[in-house]
Amino acid sequence: MRIFRFNEIDSTNKYLKEKIEIEDYDCVIAEIQTAGRGRRGNVWVSNKGMGIFSFALQEKKEKTIEEYMRLPLIAGISVLAALKKIEDLDYKFKWTNDVYIYDKKICGILIEKVREFFIIGIGININNCDFGYAQDNATSLKEITGKHYSTEDIIFCVINEFKKYLDQNWEITLKEINSYNYLKERDIEIVKDEKILGRGIAGDILKDGTLSVKINGKDECFNIGEIHIRK
Ligand code: BTN
Repeated sequence: MRIFRFNEIDSTNKYLKEKIEIEDYDCVIAEIQTAGRGRRGNVWVSNKGMGIFSFALQEKKEKTIEEYMRLPLIAGISVLAALKKIEDLDYKFKWTNDVYIYDKKICGILIEKVREFFIIGIGININNCDFGYAQDNATSLKEITGKHYSTEDIIFCVINEFKKYLDQNWEITLKEINSYNYLKERDIEIVKDEKILGRGIAGDILKDGTLSVKINGKDECFNIGEIHIRK
């Protein structure tokens, strides 16, 4: 596994996406990002103390598209499991791939594709306590425990967990993901491009990675969309 370390970079995802030659599990780690990118074109505030990294996963011919559709879920549970190993707290998995704790976001994941590689970009709030525009909705390990952590220990632990979950039986992984399901039984709204796709009570995450939602007594499933929890 090749590791590329930067004190400052625009975006670790962008670096790997623009790299001419990528190898499986190439990993880019940065202390600060000046143009960190989130999902749906959002800015990702990337301050010092955060675990900021991206790694490449080469698409294998023997794996199906359905298996690759699970990547966001696998990346999310890998972060959750790694954090649990470092500090055993009550983390939750928020479909599709956020990790929450005490109703606040502690990690965001952005997966992009370049040629035959998936670029898995992860930002974990570890020692940082300044979350910029997300101040009210984010937290970090340090904010919760008051302790200081090695960001690299956490990053390598996440990658090891990812390798384990990638090879593990999907039904077992899914059961574990559902045991941490933050949205379960919550009244939610699924939104895409400012349009409400549905409103109902969230259920389990299904075998194909979709979220089941009970809408007017009928089970529907969603594979995209931003989730808003209704108070
Ligand atoms: C989100 O929740 O919107 C996803 C945030 C993903 C942020 C990470 S930080 C490392 C990698 N590089 C980026 O520019 N983005 C991802």
